[in-house]
Amino acid sequence: MNLILMGLPGAGKGTQAEKIVEKYDIPHISTGDMFRSAIKEGTPLGKEAKSYMDAGDLVPDEVTVGIVKERLSKPDCEKGFLLDGFPRTVAQAEALENLLSELDTSLDYVIHVKVPEEKLVDRLTGRRICPECGATYHVEFNPPKEDGKCDIDGATLIQREDDQPETVRNRLNVNMEQTKPLLDYYGDKGYLVDVNGDQHIDDVFEQIDDIIGGLA
Ligand code: AP5
Ligand code: ZN
Repeated sequence: MNLILMGLPGAGKGTQAEKIVEKYDIPHISTGDMFRSAIKEGTPLGKEAKSYMDAGDLVPDEVTVGIVKERLSKPDCEKGFLLDGFPRTVAQAEALENLLSELDTSLDYVIHVKVPEEKLVDRLTGRRICPECGATYHVEFNPPKEDGKCDIDGATLIQREDDQPETVRNRLNVNMEQTKPLLDYYGDKGYLVDVNGDQHIDDVFEQIDDIIGGLA
């Protein structure tokens, strides 16, 4: 199954992606996660991406398309993939289409997780992540069992640098501008399915599972 998860920052893409890849055993390709690990490792890619991410802006298309191309060409993607946070511009979507046709494959669904804008700021500023395993929590909506510690490995949870209130607002604005043309692009091609993301995490997953279950 070849899937894209779309949604504004905080819509729950990463949270749902964890559940999808666990059940369907396909690679989770998150451009945000790839940039964050490049920053952690101090690679040239990380150095380039950092200034854009810290400001809440998009990393330039050529850079982002390049890393996705490299990742999708790996053999584990032959069984399918879940793209999370890519594409985010129409230019990226067009590049992806070319790439998939080179790889002789195509998309199944573009799943759009919809959440009212006014809820997204609280979701982002309350998010905490595990620096060891990448698990995502929320201080109120999805708290860890022990305060401030990861359920999986006990590591101390941290806040993402771009989850500060000033950056959050720019991220939302930048992404809202790019999202509409992208929704039109995939709507016209017939790939787009909407999911109500303003529900309990398990109920959001149930909607997604109903859509993709038929592909397995
Ligand atoms: P990226 O890492 O992709 O961030 P994002 O799109 O801003 O999305 P988030 O990770 O913030 O949100 P999410 O939808 O995954 O929500 P989550 O599940 O964590 O990108 C970061 C940056 O990298 C970009 O700003 C850009 O600079 C760069 N970048 C990445 N891709 C790029 C691209 N293609 N082109 C150019 N630049 C790119 O959930 C959020 C919180 O809500 C959590 O605390 C969670 O526990 C909670 N939550 C989740 N679901 C629910 C629910 N149903 N109810 C209540 N709470 C919930
Ligand atoms: Zn952890």
